[in-house]
Amino acid sequence: MRHFLSTLDYTRAELELLLATARRLKAGPHAQTLGGKSIALVFFNPSLRTRTSFELGMHQLGGKAIVLEPGKGAWPIEFDEGAIMDGEPEEHVREVAQVLSRYVDAIAVRAFPKFQRWEDDREDRVIQSFAKYASVPVINMETITHPCQELALAMTLQERLGGTDGKKLLLTWTYHPRPLNTAVANSALIIAAKLGMDVTLLCPSEEYVLDRRYMEAAQGYAAAQGRSVTVSHDIASAYRGADVVYAKSWGALPYFGRWADERPMRERSRNFMVDAEKMALTPNALFSHCLPVRRNVKVSDEVLDSPRAMHIDEAENRLHVQKALLDSLLGGGTL
Ligand code: CP
Repeated sequence: MRHFLSTLDYTRAELELLLATARRLKAGPHAQTLGGKSIALVFFNPSLRTRTSFELGMHQLGGKAIVLEPGKGAWPIEFDEGAIMDGEPEEHVREVAQVLSRYVDAIAVRAFPKFQRWEDDREDRVIQSFAKYASVPVINMETITHPCQELALAMTLQERLGGTDGKKLLLTWTYHPRPLNTAVANSALIIAAKLGMDVTLLCPSEEYVLDRRYMEAAQGYAAAQGRSVTVSHDIASAYRGADVVYAKSWGALPYFGRWADERPMRERSRNFMVDAEKMALTPNALFSHCLPVRRNVKVSDEVLDSPRAMHIDEAENRLHVQKALLDSLLGGGTL
């Protein structure tokens, strides 16, 4: 049995096999390979794409998905080991994961960080606890990385670029009024490097550089393939030469739990919004974003509505890559 918690646990060859399956599923009729199988989708945070694509994907494969929202229709869950449970949670993840494992063939979890202390959040305790106590595969639907989004980005890049090796991806921080999760940024960084791209991480200052676990992994993948991972705080030079611009906003890790202190820095960086003027610095780069996106705050209308934007394709590809993943983990596929 294998979990799908992070692509750090998977080789490029394994991910390429999944992507090949996703292309086959996208091209062909719905193959009912998961008849009688089921998955619990456990959401601690809201979702449009992830919930729809997992529910629909399981249905198209002939299986069933059950959505659970702890604290809202399902009991709130305790994660502390040895906790005296006299507070809000009604049951412990030990029981939840074991009981769900008796009912379903996989458990998928979305659990964002608490945004109080990054050194705690980087332990990814919620999904790691499910993985520890479950006896069925556990799938990450976004915690501190978003590996399903990575697969969708990879599939879309391959569709639009032909191949990814040697292509330049600019991962740019964008302004957002609130500090957001670093998951998609971590994921874009590691998947682009794993796929042999040269990656530039553009952000307002050193405080916005991503966690060392993902920076070092990306640098390792890049070095092994003769590529590079570069950090830049200069907008114009970072955009020049980019084949793909990938936008995301995130909170600065050292400021977790003291966001009022981060706010002035964030407000000074509104100029990081992706717009046509910046895109004109590139050799007609493709653009994408994981969604949801705030128009004319993170990205201008002109960029989102341009034929070079591929964010809708990427969102569609969530369905195909997740079907490939489910088929593989539950149906005896490639992994
Ligand atoms: N990109 C993504 O995961 O979208 P949702 O938050 O709507 O699921």
